[in-house]
Amino acid sequence: MKIITVIGARPQFVKAAAVSRAIAEFNQSGRGPTITERIVHTGQHYDDNMSKVFFDELHIPRPAINLEVGSGLQGRQTGAMLGRIEDVLLAESPDGVLIYGDTNSTLAGALAAVKLHVPVAHVEAGLRSFNRRMPEEINRIVADSVSTLLLCPTATAVENLHREGVTRGVHLVGDVMYDSVRFNTRLAEKTSNVLVRLELETKSFYLATIHRAENTDDPRRLKGILEAFSRIDRPIVLPLHPRTRKTLGAGLEHLAGRVRVIDPVPYLDMLMLEKHARMILTDSGGVQKEAYWFSVPCVTLRDETEWVELVQAGCNRVVGAETETVLQAVHDFESAGAALPPNRPANLYGDGEAAGKIVECLVKL
Ligand code: UD1
Ligand code: UDP
Repeated sequence: MKIITVIGARPQFVKAAAVSRAIAEFNQSGRGPTITERIVHTGQHYDDNMSKVFFDELHIPRPAINLEVGSGLQGRQTGAMLGRIEDVLLAESPDGVLIYGDTNSTLAGALAAVKLHVPVAHVEAGLRSFNRRMPEEINRIVADSVSTLLLCPTATAVENLHREGVTRGVHLVGDVMYDSVRFNTRLAEKTSNVLVRLELETKSFYLATIHRAENTDDPRRLKGILEAFSRIDRPIVLPLHPRTRKTLGAGLEHLAGRVRVIDPVPYLDMLMLEKHARMILTDSGGVQKEAYWFSVPCVTLRDETEWVELVQAGCNRVVGAETETVLQAVHDFESAGAALPPNRPANLYGDGEAAGKIVECLVKL
């Protein structure tokens, strides 16, 4: 059985690593047909610290092909991927195409496959922000609507699909990012020296990431967030996405001394920064859940989240980008000792065995 995996952006490397490992384990077990996985890297992310470092650290099989589409406007980037993925699928004749999340690489993989009548399996199906101004929301809705297998991380995602009338092929498997955190934290503890390198004491600093279009492309929002950062009375480590670095340009020099801007870090270092942070401020999807798995309070710099369970459990505050609102949320978490509610539900995102379940679904497909 031949599967083509289409990935291209940082969070997809983390997710695909867990599933590739589960595929290798399934093949070794001899429990079913041998799965041949061929990875197609669209080239959406291409800097070494946004791509290569993840393949190296997480031992992801080398991409069979890199389409090298690079950056571009939404339509151009997706269009460039579409044609090149179509060529690959025509040459490879796979039994299925595996896509992840909600990026332009996800959308292109889905469209190219469905038009060639190749079944699509979507990992992280059913998530919705209900904000159609986000490119990711459009990507999710279209990808879900053409997928044969909809592999959902949460019951909320299953419900979202049911509300849209989608019930066939829907499976609740849990979140592969938890598989990844469980597997790699032990490794990170042994190998990462990021805290020493950055001279950070555990639970003394905040960790922040910013990359969403709604924040980087809106000077008022970006200013609101950075103003809040500059008024926080603790060191803030900010591994900066290249998109945000480009937007800020010379403006980076004006950030207050307590904000430590660094390059994007490798995944194992990121896990250690998250685990030892006192609080996390982010507009990332994945980082919100990683905060919960490490029992670190999270302030989400967006107007909504797909990961609503975290908010309901009191682990995450969705605050937008207004300076005072951000500062109030930080203050509230600090007043609670920068700890999560003790009665929060465990395993909101499954048991860390999602990748194995995904492979079982693929084999049945
Ligand atoms: C993309 C996804 C977003 C995801 C994020 C993960 C879409 C629509 N968005 O956003 O859902 O959360 O990846 O990080 O697919 N750049 C570089 N080097 C790189 C990659 C990007 O310099 O290796 C810069 C370029 O200036 C580029 C910009 O970052 O134009 C944005 O990159 P792009 O992949 O289009 O979107 P992201 O913001 O990374
Ligand atoms: N990440 C990382 N280094 C960084 C920033 C993020 O390894 O400098 C990891 C993070 O731990 C998570 C994933 O990248 O596993 C999230 O990617 P990102 O925030 O870019 O995308 P999103 O989840 O918002 O789509």
